[in-house]
Amino acid sequence: MGQTVFIPRELDANEPRVAASPDTVKRLAGLGFDVIVETGAGTRSRIPDEEFAKAGAAIGKAADVAKADVVLKVRRPDETELKSYKSGAAVIAIMDPYGNDAVVAALAKAGVTAFSMEFMPRITRAQSMDVLSSQANLAGYQAVIDGASEYDRALPMMMTAAGTVPAAKVFIMGVGVAGLQAIATARRLGAVVTATDVRPAAKEQVASLGAKFLAVEDEEFKAAETAGGYAKEMSKEYQAKQAALTAEHIAKQDIVITTALIPGRPAPKLVSAAMVASMKPGSVLVDLAVERGGNVEGARPGQVVTTANGVKIVGHLNVPGRVAASASLLYAKNLFAFLETLVDKATKTLAINRDDDLVKATMLTDGGKVVHPAFAKADQQPRVEPAAIPAKTMVADASTPKKTAAKKPAASKSSSPKSKGTA
Ligand code: NAI
Repeated sequence: MGQTVFIPRELDANEPRVAASPDTVKRLAGLGFDVIVETGAGTRSRIPDEEFAKAGAAIGKAADVAKADVVLKVRRPDETELKSYKSGAAVIAIMDPYGNDAVVAALAKAGVTAFSMEFMPRITRAQSMDVLSSQANLAGYQAVIDGASEYDRALPMMMTAAGTVPAAKVFIMGVGVAGLQAIATARRLGAVVTATDVRPAAKEQVASLGAKFLAVEDEEFKAAETAGGYAKEMSKEYQAKQAALTAEHIAKQDIVITTALIPGRPAPKLVSAAMVASMKPGSVLVDLAVERGGNVEGARPGQVVTTANGVKIVGHLNVPGRVAASASLLYAKNLFAFLETLVDKATKTLAINRDDDLVKATMLTDGGKVVHPAFAKADQQPRVEPAAIPAKTMVADASTPKKTAAKKPAASKSSSPKSKGTA
């Protein structure tokens, strides 16, 4: 009998995604694993038990986790779930460990080897395992769909016998993975798109997607991108100049989508209440950073707020989960690609190489201890302040294909984690 992989049903009511697909079940079986999927695990991602069974999985119950050598999840297991896990099992999920030291300590105490997928280094070898990218890409798409559905006018220009509908103006603030997909989606819907970011590399990417770039391009802007490709927190002075430039622009927009994040810090406040008040009634803001404190003043997690002047602020939680059927397929593939690297193909068993860069970057707990450097003291002290967490260094080896113009070979091979909400 081979080793067992278990895929539980996610307990969080706000989590419709699942950590396997029929395709990855087949591949896991191909690696030599017995696969058990908890009944109903795929229901909210439109994967019925029968499809998992057809792919070769046994359909089980929650308690079957006790047999598992590997547990694949979307969200980290809570302490009650952990009680049934086998000590020594590998647990792979979006662990979202920052500010949750008690949970990290509980993972250690349960004796599981826990991996946090969002800490995967952004190197060529790990591109297929990059859950931040696979999920942010869908979130960027869905943000435009959500914005368009709250907006009570058409997006494309329509010239009809009955008159002309003007194209909607869409402004994207923050053009990382989510923002770039938001630009592409809004353009496909026929909107007139502008975008801003503090990283100079974004300028060319925005132009290549047919949108117009708007930013304060001073000396600080020229130095805003870290070696890892992420944004730095900007100075108060820069933020004031940025606000002055964007304020006038926002007043003329129909839909504003914000995606701005800074690793290890709260999301920057980009849209003030006064800017929201300057927008026309019926305009829509979609704040994708709402789970990290929000880019828009007045955004409420999990709510669509209508302001006194009739502007809607959309603050949906778990936006990738709003396209769960697509998000699960990509997420499942990310997990499989990583798990495959942890398996000895000859013996068809788990053989975790603790010296591998991917393992070092993602492993939180092992052998009863917290092993990740950012949390090493988690089992001794109650809390790590987010401010103390180093910004993520993206490791771009020289062979990285120029997926974006932002890629520079990084000097450092280290990759410390980036704090994110659940991707
Ligand atoms: P993120 O989710 O950390 O942040 C989103 C965006 O917000 C970033 O573009 C950031 O510059 C921007 N931002 C921060 N503060 C801002 C402010 N005050 N005003 C306006 N915008 C602000 O970023 P994400 O999506 O994780 O991408 C970061 C970088 O990593 C990008 O250069 C992206 O192209 C690159 N990347 C590389 C990959 C690889 O090499 N495998 C994979 C995915 C992304």
